[in-house]
This record gives sequence, structure tokens and C-alpha cells, in this order.
Amino acid sequence: MSEKHLAVVVLAAGEGTRMRSATPKVMHEIAGLPMLGHALATASALGAQYVIPVIRHEKEKLEPYIHAFYPTVHISHQDEVPGTGRAVECALNVLPDGFAGAVVVTSGDVPLLDVQTIESMLDVHLTSGAGATLLTAVFSDPSGYGRIVRADNGAFSSIVEHRDATEEELEITEVNAGVYVFDYLELKKALANIGTHNAAGEKYLTDAAVEILKSGKEVQALQVSDNWLVAGVNNRVQLQQVSAELNRRICEAWMLAGVTITDPQTTFIDITATLDEDVTLLPGTHLKGITKIGRGSTIGPEVTMTDTQVGENVSIIKSHIVGAVIDDEATVGPFSYLRAGTHLGAGGKIGTFVETKNAVIGAGSKIPHLSYVGDATIGVESNIGAGTIFANYDGIDKHHTVIGSHVRSGSHNVFVAPVSIGDGAYTAAGTVVRKDVAPGDLGMNVAPQRNLADWVLNKRATTKAAEAAKKAKN
Ligand code: UD1
Ligand code: CA
Repeated sequence: MSEKHLAVVVLAAGEGTRMRSATPKVMHEIAGLPMLGHALATASALGAQYVIPVIRHEKEKLEPYIHAFYPTVHISHQDEVPGTGRAVECALNVLPDGFAGAVVVTSGDVPLLDVQTIESMLDVHLTSGAGATLLTAVFSDPSGYGRIVRADNGAFSSIVEHRDATEEELEITEVNAGVYVFDYLELKKALANIGTHNAAGEKYLTDAAVEILKSGKEVQALQVSDNWLVAGVNNRVQLQQVSAELNRRICEAWMLAGVTITDPQTTFIDITATLDEDVTLLPGTHLKGITKIGRGSTIGPEVTMTDTQVGENVSIIKSHIVGAVIDDEATVGPFSYLRAGTHLGAGGKIGTFVETKNAVIGAGSKIPHLSYVGDATIGVESNIGAGTIFANYDGIDKHHTVIGSHVRSGSHNVFVAPVSIGDGAYTAAGTVVRKDVAPGDLGMNVAPQRNLADWVLNKRATTKAAEAAKKAKN
């Protein structure tokens, strides 16, 4: 079939009231993408000339996403007449005069639908010459879905919405999956003929299928074998169920691709993350956004990583990481917080209770304990002493600190930016570094220590400390 004969409509104009949310239903995320993103990705992969998302409710929250990620689609705006049928009717207005061919209709709230299922529907539809082909599924709990009514010979007869169904019809477990292929001209005619005479007062797309059947054309109803592919999300319980199933599938696919996942139930991997062979994910690991993990690296337990690139043989334990780059053989954690712009060089270390931001840390350099490193460049093989603060903020502006290579900074230093420490320099414990230190110098500004003899014996005579001191002196 040539490309110009195919249009794909993605329904996303509904109110989504059952979500009870300020966020439009189709913008709720599963596996790191809004449901609309999943639907548009599938629609776009069909190679159709027209991909038409239909929007209306809270369109100002949908449009920026569509423009940013699917700039070539044709957005259609549904008018005030409600219903899936009306939504498709509005979408068809986008198509030019003379368009003839197939129209696929999918929903923004059916996120697991795959390309293969639609392609096999298209196959059946085109070879059978049907006026409409729809997808059905048998659900043990069909509540909420439209029921498929079949004639005695098994042929499709009609779709009855849950709200409009009789007691007897509610017993039917075969449901309308909400995925269709229509012949364009038949669809256009049918939509013009149907009304809004139903419990919801809406123009139902399902009635268009029945109308096409009435006009003497064949309507095919194909049963899907994998029910999850057509699971619709109308409320947050279904959102969680679909999201858990997608995550289960993502974990399974990565395990088959060579990743060890010790507890898939507590491991969450966005669809946009990528992992190499022999990565190990320990319980409580969340990989979000465009995150990449290199071969042999072990992540977890309890690590959340967003938009982060990790090299090979890296170890990251109990940490929160956003927008960082971590090179081969480096170690992070436990209890580290790496923020945007952190780049940890090969074999480097960011250790326990350390926060970093906009910090380029050279190969083999270490920040092992209790430190804040913000707006800094550190050379190679340097060691930052325990409890060091890079004071980057003067209350108005942020400033940069430069630490050279092979530097040894003492414990409990403050680097008051802007300041720079030369290669091979040392700083003494407790130094507040306000002036640059030249290569090879020792920077110190701590006052000499003074001990007041027998101060405790005189001023705290009745304490256990005094007693202990007395004993020690004898
Ligand atoms: C719909 C079907 C039902 C099917 C189910 C499968 C109809 C009448 N019913 O019911 O038979 O079992 O899907 O998931 O089609 N939308 C619009 N404009 C509107 C109304 C809805 O674009 O005026 C969009 C929604 O944003 C949503 C999709 O169409 O993405 C489906 O609408 P929804 O209200 O969720 O329909 P269901 O009640 O699930
Ligand atoms: Ca729905």
C-alpha cells in the first residue's frame, strides 16, 4: 500500500475526568513518557502520511509536548460536540480533498498498543475489503468497556457502551479495544449519519462501525491475543497496572539482553534508558530519562538516576543522580547526591554524604566524605579532604573554584570561590582558603593552638571529666 493512502488519528481530546487530576489524562506518564507519547510513537512508526492527534480539553498542556516531540504531525481541534465519533470527524477535516484509503484510529489512553498489531489489522482490512476492522479483547473484568455484540453466526453486530448496556449485554466479556481501521469514504459517510442518542449524549465512534455494517459493508472484529496491548487507562488504578506491566516487560527485555536484575519488582527502567551487557541492577534502582549504563557496571541498591551517562565497570550505591556523566571504573556512594553538570573522571570517587553540582572531577580524583563541591574544576589524582565545602555563592553570584592535579586538601576546608589551587599543592586541615595557592605550596590560615593548663580541673571541678583528668595525671 502506498503511503499517501494512510492516515492515523490519535484521540486525545477527552476530559479524562476519572483521573481526578490537574494534569490531562494522556499526559500522565508511564515508563518515563506521557501516554500520549507512547501513542504518537506507535502512530508515527506506521509510515502514514498523516498522523492526526485530536485535542481539546487542556490543549495548552498537550500542544507544547506535541510540537516539541512530534513536529510533523497535524493537530486537529475537536469542537464542542463531545464523543469519540465527533473527534474523528474533526480529524478528517485535516485530510485533503481526494484523499482515499485507510484511516487508523487509536487512543491516547491505550499506551501499550504496538505497531505490529495495527499492521496485522491493516493487512486483514485491506485484503478483506471491509468497511471497518476493529480490535476486540476478552476481559475477565470488562467493566467500563464497550461490549461487542455478535450475531448467532459469530459475525459482528454492534458495540454497546457500558453505560448503555442491558443486564444481559453487561455479561458479555468481549470488549471493544478502541483501535480501528476504517475505509475513509465509508467512515466519512457513517459519521455524517449518526447522532448523540445515548446515555452520555455523545457522538460515539462505535456507532460509525454499526452504521457501516448497516450500509451493507463488512465489519471485521479481530480478537487480540495479548490483552495488555489494548488496556485502556481511565483512572489511576489502571495507570498503575499498565505502568507495572510495561515495566515488567522492559525489565524482562533487558534481562534477555544480558542485564542482571535481582528484583524486577523494585527496579524501574524508563523506556528511554539503555543498558549494555553485564550491567547489574540491584533492588530499588530507578533509571529515568536518557540514561545509559556501560558494560559491567553495578547500580544499586537504592539508586535513582535521571539523564545520566555511566561508563564501564562503575559502581554506584544508594545515591540520587541527575544530569551527570560518570566515567569508567568510577565509584559513587553510598549516599551521594550528584546534580546537573557533574562529570566524574575515570577511576574517580564521589563518596559518602557528598553533594556535587557543575563539577568536573578529573580521572582518579576523590571526594570521599561529607563534602559539597559546586561550580568546580578538579584536575587528576587529587584528594579532597573530609568535610570540605566549596563556597560558590556570595549571596548574589556563583563563582568557580579550580583545583589542580595531585592536590591534597586538608580536612574541613572551605574554598571561598573564586579561588584556585595549583598542581601538587597542599592545604592544611581547617583552612578557609580565600587566596590562591601556588603549585607545591602549603596553604594554611589556622591560628596556632593554645592550651589552658588545668582549665577543666579549675572551672569544672565537680565533673566526671575533671575526675578522669585527675586519674590520668596520677
Ligand atoms: C472507548 C469506547 C469503548 C471502548 C474503550 C476502549 C467509544 C464511545 N467507546 O470508551 O467502546 O471499549 O474506548 O478503551 O468510543 N476522546 C476524544 N474526544 C471526546 C471523547 C474522547 O478525543 O469527545 C478521546 C479520549 O481522550 C480518549 C479516547 O478518545 O483518548 C477514548 O475516550 P474515553 O472517554 O476514554 O472512552 P472510553 O469510555 O474508554
Ligand atoms: Ca478510555
